[in-house]
Amino acid sequence: MNRLTTDICGIQMKNPVMVASGTFGFGKEYAELIDLNLLGAIVTKGTSLVQWDGNPPERICETPAGMLNAIGLQNDGVDSLINDKIPWLQSAAADTPVIVNVVGKTLDEYAEVARRLDGVPGVAGLEINISCPNVKHGGIAFGTDPSMCAEVVRAVRKATSLPLIPKLSPNVTDITAMARICVDCGADALSLINTLLGTAIDIKTRKFRLANITGGLSGPAVKPVALRMVWQVASAVDVPVIGMGGIMNADDALEFLLAGASAVQVGTANFVNPQSAIEIAQGIDDYLVTCGVEHVDEIIGTVQS
Ligand SMILES: Cc1cc2nc3c(=O)[nH]c(=O)nc-3n(C[C@H](O)[C@H](O)[C@H](O)COP(=O)(O)O)c2cc1C
Repeated sequence: MNRLTTDICGIQMKNPVMVASGTFGFGKEYAELIDLNLLGAIVTKGTSLVQWDGNPPERICETPAGMLNAIGLQNDGVDSLINDKIPWLQSAAADTPVIVNVVGKTLDEYAEVARRLDGVPGVAGLEINISCPNVKHGGIAFGTDPSMCAEVVRAVRKATSLPLIPKLSPNVTDITAMARICVDCGADALSLINTLLGTAIDIKTRKFRLANITGGLSGPAVKPVALRMVWQVASAVDVPVIGMGGIMNADDALEFLLAGASAVQVGTANFVNPQSAIEIAQGIDDYLVTCGVEHVDEIIGTVQS
């Protein structure tokens, strides 16, 4: 499938379909179900400086055309990633680049995780989850305040020479403003969108369905919002955009590519069908053949009004 080869800020991929952070663990759980080497790239679960326990249950619930999650970024910390998970991925998925999703509660935490990952064999790039609460500034998410967004991207940029991909939050008024800030502070590419803040109530118990009360909405319900934001951001910046949000099949992915995304990520769909990303890559290839297009790059951003 040479029609699908993709280069995102120096990360070479056999196709533009990646699996999204937090929906694919660190690959191990899926290795018995799919061939990891057929994926464009694997984005790991958010990884912090030390282990985080996450939120108490209930942490997920289904909603019409989607799901809410409030996992709370549970993970084993960066040392376990470097010593255990990355070496495993290198042997099990040697042909698939691994992008580490980085989380932190302070600027120093983000920067230190990035510093430790710099130069680690098997790490192709960093995706920076800027939706984390900043504990030093009253818990406001880094990604919703322009000056904190700038600070975190600058801090990580200084700490690493790896490709740097901030992941934008949709929970803002103007996502293009955040996108421009990230690029000005050294981002090599952008990914969007993270989940939309929501909640759900059980009318029988009259309680919130999630122990955390609020959670992140994902799945088909968010797709029109994600597609609109990807189109806006791709029109506003010159770096590659990685689009995601409700992509369930090849037609969905093609919409994102036409809107200007250079690659896509598949998240919630993995829970429904672990083969989703592989089937989507195949479906994009079929579309190109049917339309007589020689390379996927030729359709990116070609939507017409
Ligand atoms: C259970 C779950 C856990 C997630 N964990 C993370 C995470 O650790 N870091 C992150 O940046 N995004 C995380 N996300 C967001 C997804 O990577 C993705 O941005 C979002 O779900 C939208 O894509 P989708 O509709 O295809 O799922 C998580 C999403 C889900 C459903």
